[in-house]
Amino acid sequence: MNQTTNWLEKDKKQLHPVYHPKSHANALVIERGEGVWLYTTDGKKILDGMAGLWNVNVGYGREELAKVAYEQMKDLAFTSNFSGMTNIPSIQLAEKLAGFAYEGLNTTLFTSGGSESNDSAFKTARYYWNRMGKPSKYKIIARKGSYHGVTLATTFATGLEKYHTMFGPAMDGFIHISAPNPYRYDGQLKQGESIGQAAARSLEEAILKEGQDSIAAFIAEPVMGVGGVIIPPDDYFPLVRAICDKYEILFIADEVITGFGRTGEWFALKHWDVKPDILSFAKAITSGYAQLGGI
Ligand SMILES: Cc1ncc(COP(=O)(O)O)c(C=O)c1O
Repeated sequence: MNQTTNWLEKDKKQLHPVYHPKSHANALVIERGEGVWLYTTDGKKILDGMAGLWNVNVGYGREELAKVAYEQMKDLAFTSNFSGMTNIPSIQLAEKLAGFAYEGLNTTLFTSGGSESNDSAFKTARYYWNRMGKPSKYKIIARKGSYHGVTLATTFATGLEKYHTMFGPAMDGFIHISAPNPYRYDGQLKQGESIGQAAARSLEEAILKEGQDSIAAFIAEPVMGVGGVIIPPDDYFPLVRAICDKYEILFIADEVITGFGRTGEWFALKHWDVKPDILSFAKAITSGYAQLGGI
């Protein structure tokens, strides 16, 4: 095997959508879904414990959703939302979402998924600080083990090393701190300090090290998903909110997998009574029946 085929063989596992269908011989080819069940082309019935990619909150095979999509597509399948143009369903949904998550979060920018939502959240944070006359505030603090998406910016906001080496060199302006992992905390604990306090302290230390005038925002998944389904200690997010306020850092909640009821509250940050400045969503808002996200 020469060097090229060597890495190609290895990466094929991660880059599977681009290789030939014939090499999908061992893949589960899903034909149909109903409720929580998936059915494969070779007759297997599988319990979808992950609900798609953490998104099919109302289950498969919902006829009423197929019907409204059909009716809408017949009337109008697309308009641009640029340059003063819009459409009735977009207006209605934005109206429904205004104040739905938190009082004061009233304006929605729609996107086509979670990666674009987080990317838009970063752009919005930069835009905000530019407008506030502080263009030096551009960096984003994220956590090790986090996952924020597939765009270039969200790849480098993601705190998983393997995605950085695949698509390096690293982008400037993304800093990673310890996550409040109650099982395997990788930061330093001071005497008498809880993991929530230590992880929040690592945020404050990063802000002080980088300089608050260089930081636009902090982004966090309320419950980490790809990094291991990590539920943070109860003291963590209230401390994070206070630190963001103290140093004038915007707090972006990445609720892409936790939003719209997945954790028992409409949005997971509500478990700790904490309000973000920007909320990123996607996935369960349509339960996978259409591509939609937003901030
Ligand atoms: C926390 C989190 N943010 C963002 C994304 C990216 O969302 P999408 O796949 O819709 O681009 C994901 C995807 O799983 C995610 O888990």
